[in-house]
Amino acid sequence: MKNPYLPMSCVIKETKKETADIKTISVELPDLPAPFDYAPGQFNQISVMGVGEMPISIGSRLDDKTITHTVRAVGEATSKLVELDAGDTIGLRGPFGQGWPLEAAAGKDLLLATGGLGLAPLRALLDLIEAERDRFGRVNLAYGARTPGDMIFTDRFDRWRVIPDFELFLTVDHVPKEAVWEHATGVVTHVFDRLTVDPARALAFTCGPEIMMRFVANSLLIRGFDQNSIFVSMERRMECGMGKCGHCMIGPKYVCIDGPVFSYAQVKALPHNIIAGKGLAA
Ligand SMILES: Cc1cc2nc3c(=O)[nH]c(=O)nc-3n(C[C@H](O)[C@H](O)[C@H](O)COP(=O)(O)OP(=O)(O)OC[C@H]3O[C@@H](n4cnc5c(N)ncnc54)[C@H](O)[C@@H]3O)c2cc1C
Ligand code: FES
Repeated sequence: MKNPYLPMSCVIKETKKETADIKTISVELPDLPAPFDYAPGQFNQISVMGVGEMPISIGSRLDDKTITHTVRAVGEATSKLVELDAGDTIGLRGPFGQGWPLEAAAGKDLLLATGGLGLAPLRALLDLIEAERDRFGRVNLAYGARTPGDMIFTDRFDRWRVIPDFELFLTVDHVPKEAVWEHATGVVTHVFDRLTVDPARALAFTCGPEIMMRFVANSLLIRGFDQNSIFVSMERRMECGMGKCGHCMIGPKYVCIDGPVFSYAQVKALPHNIIAGKGLAA
């Protein structure tokens, strides 16, 4: 039996700088027996030899054996990963977790509300919306960042704008003097007055810092979204990714196998989470 802790070896094909500290890395898995199969919102455990392993959301599938991950350098492992270049080798285990609820989303309007790097776990879903447009109703993407220079996937914005019945709303907290910016300013909820999805028939998917997801969820509840129609992607420290070590647990739930995507109603029942207004214990 294959050891589930043993990563597959993969080769970095290409890297793309998104912002000062975020890179998109395309990796090829040459030894994969079949096309890499995953659902939008799932993650892989990526390892850098001699440094460590980290959970990273799966982005686009470029071909059967090549996928992307978008990474921000925050600590030792992520900093080493973003330093690597084409030709370097990394390890990969996955895919893991429950992604966005695609069955429930069939035929519904979708609101994707996200901030900063939080757009990364939605990239695979945006690919799916583009490829299978009839599967969903109207789609709104509300994307916020600190400044225009902190936005990722900017080269995809024009491509998303031409998807039928798709609206892209951009906003930033702050516009530096030298920047050109023709969109909104303010936090991501500021653009919610312009949404064109119908709360009665829409699901909302949100990802970003927990405090942002709290404001997004509160604002959507006021606008008539149901607690079971709002979904958040949670981040916790992980080790195994398979429900064995307990590192990622929030109350009775494993973020690695029960999540990372949870409904707001599920999150509300969990202890110690900022999203539902239950501050982390001191
Ligand atoms: C399901 C899931 C999906 C994820 N997807 C992505 C992704 O697509 N891209 C990505 O870049 N990251 C993603 N992360 C977060 C990523 O796993 C962590 O940033 C990484 O494990 C940090 O490892 P490190 O060794 O570099 O930092 P550590 O040494 O573990 O931490 C260094 C410092 O950074 C802080 N830190 C740790 N994690 C974060 C964080 N997420 N944000 C800000 N500060 C942090 C720590 O508190 C510490 O102060 C995801 C996490 C989960 C659980
Ligand atoms: S990471 Fe080990 S149980 Fe979730």
